[in-house]
Parts: sequence; C-alpha cells; structure tokens
Amino acid sequence: KRPIIIDTDPGIDDAVAIAIALYSEKLDVRLITTVAGNVSLDKVTYNALRLLKFFKKDIPVAKGASRPLIKDPIDASDIHGSTGMDGFDFEEPTDELLLKENAVNAMYRVITTSKEKITLVPIGPLTNIALLLKVYPEVKENIEEIVLMGGSTTRGNAGVMSEFNMFADPEAAKIVFQSNIPIVMAGLDVGWKALIYPEDSEQLLDMNETGKMVYQLFKKYRGGSMKTGLKMYDSFAIAYLLEPNMFKTVDTFVDVELSGTLTAGCTVVDLKGYLGKQSNAKVCTDVDAQMFTDWFFNSLRKCN
Ligand code: BDR
Ligand code: CA
Repeated sequence: KRPIIIDTDPGIDDAVAIAIALYSEKLDVRLITTVAGNVSLDKVTYNALRLLKFFKKDIPVAKGASRPLIKDPIDASDIHGSTGMDGFDFEEPTDELLLKENAVNAMYRVITTSKEKITLVPIGPLTNIALLLKVYPEVKENIEEIVLMGGSTTRGNAGVMSEFNMFADPEAAKIVFQSNIPIVMAGLDVGWKALIYPEDSEQLLDMNETGKMVYQLFKKYRGGSMKTGLKMYDSFAIAYLLEPNMFKTVDTFVDVELSGTLTAGCTVVDLKGYLGKQSNAKVCTDVDAQMFTDWFFNSLRKCN
C-alpha cells in the first residue's frame, strides 16, 4: 500500500476524493490535514471529521492554516454551500480523531518517522505544504512525490486564468513548485474533460451508503447544476495515483504568477519551453474520459 497524506479543504469534490482514497486497497492514508479554502478552517476540519465518522475510519486529522500566507482569504461557498458540504445530513462527529498537533507538525512527524517515503496529496490551497517545506525543509528527503489538484494549462475558474487552489494562495503554490520535489499536477483542464452526468450518477443511489451520500452532495454541488455535468476535480489527483495510465502527461516547467494585474494566481505551464527552464512538474494534459468515469464509479462501489 502506498502511504499518503491528504491535505484538503472539504469541499464536495474533496469528500468524494477522500472516499475513494480511504477505500482503495492500494493506498494507506496515514493522515488528513485541513486547510482553509472552500470554506473556513473550522468548517473544513469539521467536515473532515464528519466524513471519517460516516466512513467509520480512524484516520488522524490535523488542523492547518486558517489563512493564506499573504493574501486575504477567499472561499468557494457558492460552489460547495455555506457548510462546504451542503446536501447531506451527517451525524455529529466527536473530536477523538483530531490531533492536538497542528498540520505542519503532524506532517513532519508522519513523514520523518515513516520507513517508506510518503506521497503528499494536496487537494486544497497549498498553504500547509508551503509552511511544512519552509519550517522543516528536511522532510523533502522522505517525500516520494506531491500529486496535487490545482492549476490549469489554459483557463481558470477563480479568475480568467487562475484556478481556485492556486488563486487562494499563490505564494504558497510558488513555494511548492520551486521545492524540487517531484510534482504531478492534475489541473482544471483534465477535470473539464471527464464530466459526471446525472444519467451516470443515478447508479450511486443503489450502490451503497457512500453512493447515496455522494448523490445528495451532488444535488447541491455548484448550486445544483448536475445536468451540465459535474467536475470532480480532486478525484483526478487520486485517479492519477491509482491509474496513471488514463492520463497524458508532459514534463515541463511550471511557475505561479504572483503580480500580474489580470493573471495573479495563474499557473504558467511552459509547454513549449519558451523559458528554457528545467522541468519541475509532470502536468496532466489529457485524460481518457471513459476510463475516468468507469474508474470513478467502480471506485465508489468499493466504499461502504
Ligand atoms: C478546486 O477548488 C475547490 O473548490 C475544489 O475542491 C478543488 O480542489 C478546483 O478548482
Ligand atoms: Ca479541494
């Protein structure tokens, strides 16, 4: 089993990605860390605990950054609802799984005490990961890879050119891309290529309890626009971990625009090598939509 840490801001698509990761026989989720993003830190942490209670999985949770490094916080409650996971009536969780340690210290401990190298899977703004790399640069030696959801090779969803996770904390994203750790970037573009339609989602209803829960969340995702197809962004990071062969990737140089008056927070993906820099990321440029959709529902079928 591949040991991973999921850094997340649940988030409806985060919730689905977490479900798939927790029930995969190939992944060993050692820790879940939370970061302010889709909604506030308190809400996303509460959501992570609600999900673990629902799944009956005892994975430790550590609370991370409540604000981006420099920018003022933004949120995506227009997409995920004011709770961050609107649509399902979860049971009240306890704080049993919540560590006293903050996310940075918990990641440090898990990474440095693990015999095998750890893969980081950030599916929210990169604030916690940037802090970890600045506070404990020695962790790099025991990080296998960072497989993240964020950025775009084309257009954005938080700005004309900027994807939400990057736009929420561009300085943190820049630190991560400059870290020299192997990075896989599953960005918006792949998310747009394999949409989940209501006809397919109907099968969730007679799959299992997770399927029913996910269906209820889907009804509220993006204000309930299931018909035009749902974007399962964060699941693409998990899909890459489990089935990398469904993706086309390019090794290239990626940087994050900090000061552009129109493009701040945009990932500059140098696909044509204009900047003459060494590649620092494997960027997903395409995905087989049918393979993704089949994988997505088959994975959810493995849940309880
Ligand atoms: C990303 O932004 C968030 O709203 C989603 O959870 C995902 O991580 C997509 O841009
Ligand atoms: Ca997310």
